[in-house]
Amino acid sequence: MRTPIIAGNWKMNNTINEGLKLIEEIKGFPRNGEAETVICVPFTLLSEAKKAIENTDIKLGAQDMYWEEKGAFTGEISPLMLKELGVEYCIIGHSERRQYFGETDENVNKKIKAALSHSIRPIVCVGETLEERESHIEKEIVERQLLLAFEGVDKKKVENIVIAYEPIWAIGTGKTASADDANDMISFIRQTIGNKCGDVKDKIRIQYGGSVKPENIKELMGKSDIDGALVGGASLDAEDFVDLINY
Ligand code: 13P
Repeated sequence: MRTPIIAGNWKMNNTINEGLKLIEEIKGFPRNGEAETVICVPFTLLSEAKKAIENTDIKLGAQDMYWEEKGAFTGEISPLMLKELGVEYCIIGHSERRQYFGETDENVNKKIKAALSHSIRPIVCVGETLEERESHIEKEIVERQLLLAFEGVDKKKVENIVIAYEPIWAIGTGKTASADDANDMISFIRQTIGNKCGDVKDKIRIQYGGSVKPENIKELMGKSDIDGALVGGASLDAEDFVDLINY
């Protein structure tokens, strides 16, 4: 049985005060405890957020990291630094980083290996653009992203990876992939992992992301291969986020 995982990606939102207020609000709503809950907060909030979630089952995540431990890489944050702050998860290869900050599949691969070697669980994002979907090459695109991302990754560690299938056209647009389409792609992702890494495909957790809301979570989570959600906008509202966790 794969434990469901609902992760909030706060993106570049919330100052320390705003973030702490949101965490207090989240803690104020009852959660049923079945799904693993992660909040991926901005770097500036990691330290305070860690203290605020102490004695809860909420896990701490970052939104990106560099692959080297230290050195002359101005502006970057290393896995050692994240580990020191109690970070358990790190989003890697989000489409916004690929689109606006030149993140390549090669970088994603290096970051995954670095995260795993520091016992940080990567949440690896893959997904196609609208143009690619309309040209019916979405599976080819996602397969390529996966094969490059997993190149040379220690098979014994693959089960610590979470994959997030986030079709770019569904992010922040209010358009969700239908639950059937999301499940179809996620089954394909599981198969692709199986071809590359073997039986671990049945253990690895694969989320859907893109305009996930309290209104559509139940249907998505009812599908055979969908193990959770990576949530942007709706994770910034405590009541909505807890509704998602309690799907
Ligand atoms: P939205 O939920 O706002 O569409 O964002 C999805 C996302 O990019 C999560 O990483």
